Amino acid sequence: MAPKTILLTLAALQGAQAWGTLGHATIAYIAQNYLTDTTATWAKGVLSDTSSSYLANIASWADTYRSTTAGAFSAPFHYIDAEDSPPTSCNVDYDRDCGSTGCSVSAIANYTQRVGDGRLSAANTAEALKFLVHFLGDITQPLHDEALETGGNGIIVTFDGYDTDNLHSDWDTYIPEKLVGGHTLADAKEWADTLTTEIKSGAYKSVAVSWVKGDDITDAVGSAMMWATDANALVCKVVMPNGVAALQTGDLYTNGYYESVIGTVELQIAKGGYRLANWLNMIVDANLKRRGEGAQVRPLPDLMGRDLLPPLRPLSRAKMARAAIGYGCGHEH
Ligand SMILES: *[C@@H]1O[C@H](CO)[C@@H](O)[C@H](O)[C@H]1NC(C)=O
Ligand SMILES: [Zn+2]
Repeated sequence: MAPKTILLTLAALQGAQAWGTLGHATIAYIAQNYLTDTTATWAKGVLSDTSSSYLANIASWADTYRSTTAGAFSAPFHYIDAEDSPPTSCNVDYDRDCGSTGCSVSAIANYTQRVGDGRLSAANTAEALKFLVHFLGDITQPLHDEALETGGNGIIVTFDGYDTDNLHSDWDTYIPEKLVGGHTLADAKEWADTLTTEIKSGAYKSVAVSWVKGDDITDAVGSAMMWATDANALVCKVVMPNGVAALQTGDLYTNGYYESVIGTVELQIAKGGYRLANWLNMIVDANLKRRGEGAQVRPLPDLMGRDLLPPLRPLSRAKMARAAIGYGCGHEH
């Protein structure tokens, strides 16, 4: 086998992960830079990890977990299948797009409620935090907020000489790795430091506040819908501004596509990290305040989050396509 064939086979076996491990670890490292001391201490305790990579270490756990029998239920939580019509029209509608078994938006709401509740076991609390660190990353990847061709998994393209790539895995993994040159934790840390500098004093300084504007942990569905809508708009504007067929002419690395999207890839990773930190800080703040208010009896929320799901309705074609492939098992989405 030629070396390239071996690489492709390995990639197919492993299944590229949503924002690959590089993207998720980078988002986690950026978030670590913006957690308050109180939140950082809380997170280290929940995860039983006091190392300097406490969030980065678990950032891709959800992608491993989804492919286990025990974790199969969480496969639909990595995306919301917006049934819009890019590039003409992009939009997300919770009732239309969140599947009856849940989606990224309902999952973020569910694990926000669970992680801060204080009445769950240590293992369940850690699970909730690991899911949040991952899903607040996934939701910034535009193709995780798009139903077309199963989030682009069905769009076969050529990137950097590889002619069996699909658009989704290029966005998740191969485009970021091309920029950074690797996918180790050290690579992620370095990329996170660069993007953190951009937030603190560079290109993102004046816009970062807009990334978290309106975020409200008492309305997690509404907040996550804003993030999904923000990323979904980029499907029309940046991911496929000229439609699908235009993506299938030539090598996306050398025909100008890479240059046209790489700035957006960096922006979305930076956003994901900044939002994640703000979200976790708000969760910890709210829980400290609540405890400070004394022994007020709180109503018990439905910690299974059933009330967070949209009303049941017949399956659309896009949702049937998902169900047919086992919600992405063996696929990247
Ligand atoms: C909430 O989380 C629990 C534990 O992982 C899970 O069993 C349940 O299905 C989730 N509910 C939603 C709406 O995501
Ligand atoms: Zn994922």
